[in-house]
Amino acid sequence: MLFGLFSRSRPRGLPYEMFDVTYTDREARRAKRMESIYHVGQDKIWDGRRVLAELIDRHGRPKLAERERRALSQIFSVIMWGELAAWKISAQLADVIVPLGAKLAASSQVHDEARHFYVMHDYLEALGEKPPELDYWSKRVLTMTLGTKSLAKKLLGMQLTIETIALTIFQRVRELDVEPVLTELLPYYERDEARHVGLGIQMLPPLVAEMSYAERIELAVFHLDLYGSAAMSLKSLEPSLESIGVDPRSILAIGFRKQSDIDTMFREEFPGWPLDPPEKRVFAGLCELLFPVRENGETHVGKRARLQAAIDVMRRRRPGVLEIEAEKRAARRTDNLSRAGVNGSPAE
Ligand SMILES: [Fe+2]
Ligand SMILES: [Fe+2]
Repeated sequence: MLFGLFSRSRPRGLPYEMFDVTYTDREARRAKRMESIYHVGQDKIWDGRRVLAELIDRHGRPKLAERERRALSQIFSVIMWGELAAWKISAQLADVIVPLGAKLAASSQVHDEARHFYVMHDYLEALGEKPPELDYWSKRVLTMTLGTKSLAKKLLGMQLTIETIALTIFQRVRELDVEPVLTELLPYYERDEARHVGLGIQMLPPLVAEMSYAERIELAVFHLDLYGSAAMSLKSLEPSLESIGVDPRSILAIGFRKQSDIDTMFREEFPGWPLDPPEKRVFAGLCELLFPVRENGETHVGKRARLQAAIDVMRRRRPGVLEIEAEKRAARRTDNLSRAGVNGSPAE
């Protein structure tokens, strides 16, 4: 069995048995995909010093008004420390994983995260900001993932939660074009992070398939704790996000969408992967509680109504942020198409 080879603790010495495995067709395919994460990473590698220097040459040193500069540095300091945590976590993964393809993929991630960390540090320095320490909740998300000994929890935390949060923030800030150097820098990060998510998609489902019922529940509780902490960290970033024109609900909507893309990929590999597990519902309710719908920037709903809305979303009796934002997006698309006089075009 391929996945019997994953060590849950630090291996001692060299795993001479690493090639003594018989792969099923599916396992062989998956191993190839993980190996290709390493090789694609090598083909697409970028020189962080050169890219940042060229962008600053083209656009000038990043300049922003005091308020926006503070806000951007607050948000991207979380990203910068997150990159350092990702560097450490991927190094742990590269150490404990035994099968070659997955070990290569994790090793290429170590190199990527090191580059992400120093480039983000250099960018913030060019912006004229010293990165502050992390808030309690962001720290919690990172230390939970760094500290766990379980490979499944580590993958769920790093590859599928922290990476998705980073990708979500990158996409939204890039779309808003807050600062030109950053806007052109972020696609380099997004390409790399998308590959890192790929490692989690290939590795986690077979690990879960081998778990007992109790272990699965423990993993779901860990996931919910992680998501809850991430939502609280988003709440603490809310003032900074709003200063640069980002509505936290739009971040949640992108995050939910990316998560459901990941779930779809999981189901392609493992048809038994749950469609709407309880932890996902509880999280959707929590988001409604923390980030209620607003009208003209004002929250009109009282605490009671907010709680009721959260319970209804949890029970899937009313649409949550994902469905509401998807509807808005569809309405905007229809609006754009009708203004352009286009019929039947699939383009957004
Ligand atoms: Fe990264
Ligand atoms: Fe990453």
